[in-house]
Amino acid sequence: MTTTSVLSYAIDLVAVLLLALGLKGLSKVRSARAANGLAALAMGLAVVGLLLQQQLSPQAWLWIAAGSAIGGLAGLLMAQRVPMTAMPETVALFNGCGGMASLLVAVAVALFQSGGAAAADGAAAQGAGDLVSLISIVISVFVGAITFSGSIVAMGKLQGWIETPGWTQSQLRHGVNISLAAMALVAGVLLIGDPSGLPLWLLVGASTLLGIGVTLPIGGADMPVVISLLNSYSGVAAAAAGFVVGSQLLIVAGAMVGAAGLILTQVMCTAMNRSLVSVLFGGALGAAGGGHVGGGGDEAGYSRITSCSAEECAMALETAERVVFVPGYGLAVAQAQHTLRELAKLLEANGAEVSYAIHPVAGRMPGHMNVLLAEADVPYEQLIEMDSINPEFPRTDVVIVLGANDVVNPDAKSDPTSPLFGMPVLEVDQARQVFVVKRSLGAGYAGIKNALFELPQTAMVFGDAKAVLAGLVSELRELGVGKKTPAAV
Ligand code: TAP
Repeated sequence: MTTTSVLSYAIDLVAVLLLALGLKGLSKVRSARAANGLAALAMGLAVVGLLLQQQLSPQAWLWIAAGSAIGGLAGLLMAQRVPMTAMPETVALFNGCGGMASLLVAVAVALFQSGGAAAADGAAAQGAGDLVSLISIVISVFVGAITFSGSIVAMGKLQGWIETPGWTQSQLRHGVNISLAAMALVAGVLLIGDPSGLPLWLLVGASTLLGIGVTLPIGGADMPVVISLLNSYSGVAAAAAGFVVGSQLLIVAGAMVGAAGLILTQVMCTAMNRSLVSVLFGGALGAAGGGHVGGGGDEAGYSRITSCSAEECAMALETAERVVFVPGYGLAVAQAQHTLRELAKLLEANGAEVSYAIHPVAGRMPGHMNVLLAEADVPYEQLIEMDSINPEFPRTDVVIVLGANDVVNPDAKSDPTSPLFGMPVLEVDQARQVFVVKRSLGAGYAGIKNALFELPQTAMVFGDAKAVLAGLVSELRELGVGKKTPAAV
């Protein structure tokens, strides 16, 4: 073994350790930022380690440096500009890039050095090693192409660029997708005999169309599940590409991403009371159909709405001993997290016990509300998950729902005809008084009416979340809250 390969294996080992530490750190909000840096460093080291193994010419290094600089700059600019509310689209795009990278690696190896890892290692490209390598190429192309095209469709739907076509809601789509899968299977088997010929392109084409075919019918509230599933696929494709190029690090990293994505998919399915089979084969969930992005909706159909001003809401808050805030997508849109924190501090100074109810799919990405509230330094202990906070609502004086809609819809528990029926929700209707802060009676992501708005204990406070919260802060200050010594602390 040469010094260069020892060095590259040592770099790989350090990268694997850093990656594992990074993933562990990502499980806590406090350490997540540093952990992300560690994982990025691990990826950078992994690239260097792999390139060292290849003993490249100076000209090749130049091409790679130029490509990395252009790609890095594009990523940096995008990461700085994209708003938090557009994160799911961004994640979908990144998943797609991961899938495409694995696809291109496998296609390049199939075209230019049939025999893959075995050939790359200088070993005889024959026998079992050769077969493993060819099977890895097939898996990498198949899963990579599905991930790429599926993610681009998912991004288009989340952005509102792509609608769900009517025919995809009929049984016809199953026939189309089964035919494409069969075509890909045949091409995969043929590719093992002829890696660089027509079967390769047939496999690329059939898998790409299959990615579109399976993602296009899915929409509405099922999109988070699809995004996390595609994330898992991108890991599987990367692990297969690791076999193709003989990189242990890529295999480890890909397997970790694949497993993490699968766990997240399971968590999302449980949170929405949906089985993965019904998400993938059951058609779009929710009246919104596909790619509905908040706001708007049908305002008709409500008959018993009570609305009130920020002043009335502030008076209820002044005497409340226990207050629960329910953040939702609208809070993120309004970027009202800092004003919310200011209000919470005032209430705490007044002696109230304040907490935040976190629904697993509130907002538009997993952990959206946790990240949003962490930005405003809300103490992590005050963020209470749905299962723990639900039994607490009956002893809660005031609940303030801030730009949340679907995650507090009581029909999900009681109306079997509701598209949300079966999805566990925050049971705010059990509290003594509920104020719902939003701009109108418009629907949420699922595009449906919310029975909470008509309950006798509910009052709507219409307006942008940030403006209403700022109004509440100034009303409470006028009432002298925050200046008094807490009664019972
Ligand atoms: P939604 O049900 O989408 O409701 C958000 C509400 O925010 C809207 O009804 C809107 O009403 C209001 N709003 C928008 N801008 C506002 C502003 N500036 N100020 C005040 N209110 C504003 O949100 P949710 O309760 O958080 O539920 C999330 C939904 O998204 C679920 O259906 C979930 O399945 C889906 N989803 C979740 C994810 C993940 S992983 N979290 C990903 C994709 C989809 P007005 O227009 O009347 O103001």
